[in-house]
Amino acid sequence: MATHKIAVIAGDGIGKEVVPAGIEVIEAAGRRFGIDFQWTAFDWSCERFAKTGEMMPKDGLDQLRPFDSIFLGAVGWPGVPDHVSLWGLLIPIRRGFDQYANVRPVRLFEGVQCPLAGRKPGEIDFYVVRENTEGEYSAAGGRMFEGTDREFVVQEAVFTRQGVDRILKYAFDMARTRQRKHVTSATKSNGIIHTMPFWDERFAAMKERYSDVTTDQFHIDILTAHFVRNPHWFDVVVGSNLFGDILSDLGPAVVGSIGIAPSGNINPERAHPSMFEPVHGSAPDIAGKGIANPIGQVWSGAMMLEHLGHKEAADAVVRAIAVVLAGGGPKTPDLGGNGGTRDLTRAIVEAVKAA
Ligand code: NAD
Ligand code: IPM
Ligand code: MN
Repeated sequence: MATHKIAVIAGDGIGKEVVPAGIEVIEAAGRRFGIDFQWTAFDWSCERFAKTGEMMPKDGLDQLRPFDSIFLGAVGWPGVPDHVSLWGLLIPIRRGFDQYANVRPVRLFEGVQCPLAGRKPGEIDFYVVRENTEGEYSAAGGRMFEGTDREFVVQEAVFTRQGVDRILKYAFDMARTRQRKHVTSATKSNGIIHTMPFWDERFAAMKERYSDVTTDQFHIDILTAHFVRNPHWFDVVVGSNLFGDILSDLGPAVVGSIGIAPSGNINPERAHPSMFEPVHGSAPDIAGKGIANPIGQVWSGAMMLEHLGHKEAADAVVRAIAVVLAGGGPKTPDLGGNGGTRDLTRAIVEAVKAA
């Protein structure tokens, strides 16, 4: 029996509610498909920061390195500034383990009410592939003359040829595995910024190597409009760190709820562990109420299963999610129901046994 060592960082807020739900479903899939997991919990969080002044220990990455994957909930809580909690935990893991491909599926499921009129399940089914280690999220910059009237802040966006090429290649390779084989580039080369004409050049060069893949590109401003008006156009959408971040909240909102959206922070070379987490955050407004939608976390677990080589088990989990959403069973309030996290989790576990 395959055994996988998984590091679990539930983190903050609803992370602590949806991570156990995710583990429960992945365990059920493991029992069905003969996969064994060893889960090791780390209490790294804003709560830990309040006690120790650190989000994670100094050797945190070394502690995570031996694991096959990292299963994360959410990071960030009122009282600790986001730039402190996120630069103290989430971002160092993404960068330290070179998880440069942030893969975020967007799918309209049967049984989920789409805020767009007349859209049918199957019509919206695409991936946002987000660059995850550089771009607008660079560490270069800072604040000067704080508190004085000369105060200013600078943020440098860093786009390296290697960094851009590898995420574009990832997107084109992914498109090749899909039926439509289409890549859309999110750009802003009409703006007065240096980075995006460079991004376009690299996109054009990469496209030359994939004659079987069709492409288009849109400036990010109109692209957000097309996500709403024409989501059926998209297959694989590749974007920089910030553009990809925005598109990957918009996509799930367009198909019903941010609560169902999963992500994989992937190191494609497998030199380091990859990390799987929902797209959403710690949701302080609903934390502790037992009503968080666990599907984003559960689906992230399915992506982890696939990454670990268990495609059949991963497909069964996604099928179970689809069956539960399509059926008349419990739904959390973000999906218009009045069920809780536990009810929805239990229904998915039952569906996994049959999926
Ligand atoms: P958020 O995703 O936490 O919440 C946005 C809205 O969506 C809220 O109304 C929330 O109730 C709802 N929502 C989110 N997940 C849900 C779920 N599973 N079920 C039902 N409703 C859900 O975004 P935010 O409010 O901008 O951020 C809150 C905190 O989380 C901040 O500290 C932020 O930095 C952090 N954050 C962390 C991550 C991460 O760890 N990857 C991602 C996004 C935000
Ligand atoms: C996400 C989140 C993070 C990001 C924040 C919390 C740093 O919004 O995972 O999408 O911007 O990458
Ligand atoms: Mn985000």
